[in-house]
Amino acid sequence: MDLKSQINIEKLPRHIAIIMDGNGRWAKQHGKPRVFGHRNGVTAVRETTEAAAELGVEYLTLYAFSTENWNRPKLEVSALMRLLVDTLHKEIETLNKNDIRLQAIGDITKLPGSTYKALLEGIENTKDNKRMTLVLALNYSSKWEIMEASRRLAQQVEAGVLRPEEIDEEIFAGALNTSGMPDPELLIRTSGETRLSNFLLWQVAYAELYFTPIFWPDFRKENFYTAIIDFQQRERRFGKISEQLVQ
Ligand code: IPE
Ligand code: IPE
Ligand code: MG
Repeated sequence: MDLKSQINIEKLPRHIAIIMDGNGRWAKQHGKPRVFGHRNGVTAVRETTEAAAELGVEYLTLYAFSTENWNRPKLEVSALMRLLVDTLHKEIETLNKNDIRLQAIGDITKLPGSTYKALLEGIENTKDNKRMTLVLALNYSSKWEIMEASRRLAQQVEAGVLRPEEIDEEIFAGALNTSGMPDPELLIRTSGETRLSNFLLWQVAYAELYFTPIFWPDFRKENFYTAIIDFQQRERRFGKISEQLVQ
């Protein structure tokens, strides 16, 4: 039986987040510079986005550039930023055709001007699309996001529009970049690394984590389906015991 038909559409995660990792090692394996890996990673982005939209996933968040990634060699960073601009320009039409809305999380104002501009254009041009939301995490750092949220709430308290005792999980989540989005139920990381690397720390509090040794440029629809099937076989207990869960 093919993988796709093994997925229970009734129990699909509403939000899937992916740490796309392993581009550099993939390139090395092929005897090529790291940028070659990033370029080939775009195919995996396309495949995954298409697969998620076809299945009916509501939100797909892709970790594309972390705040820590600025520490990479200058040439790699500038190549990544250029690749982002090119990819955004090329793919917006496809996103529109597939009714996919683009959004971003992270400190995007600090991106180079051309990247920021391409991103804002992409967001604006797809804003009315309804089928799925594709969220790009760019210059994203979860600790930064949590800090910013705390600062914003503190300012509201100072301005007298919020009382400290009113701050609950809902209000705090509403001050994060992901405000209005459901928390990811499934987090996938490729390349065999088993860490979160400052990604969505608040939001993945109860997510199922799925690690695969596959390098991101090799990630295809079948690998995405396999992750969802694995997710659907898990028992999500949320602190309760097995017997308390209604089937
Ligand atoms: C992930 O691949 C892409 C980005 C972080 C932008 P890497 O570039 O981290 O690849 P590895 O981990 O060095 O193989
Ligand atoms: C995490 O990957 C960031 C992205 C996928 C964009 P890294 O490859 O930068 O993570 P670390 O530094 O190895 O943890
Ligand atoms: Mg990496």
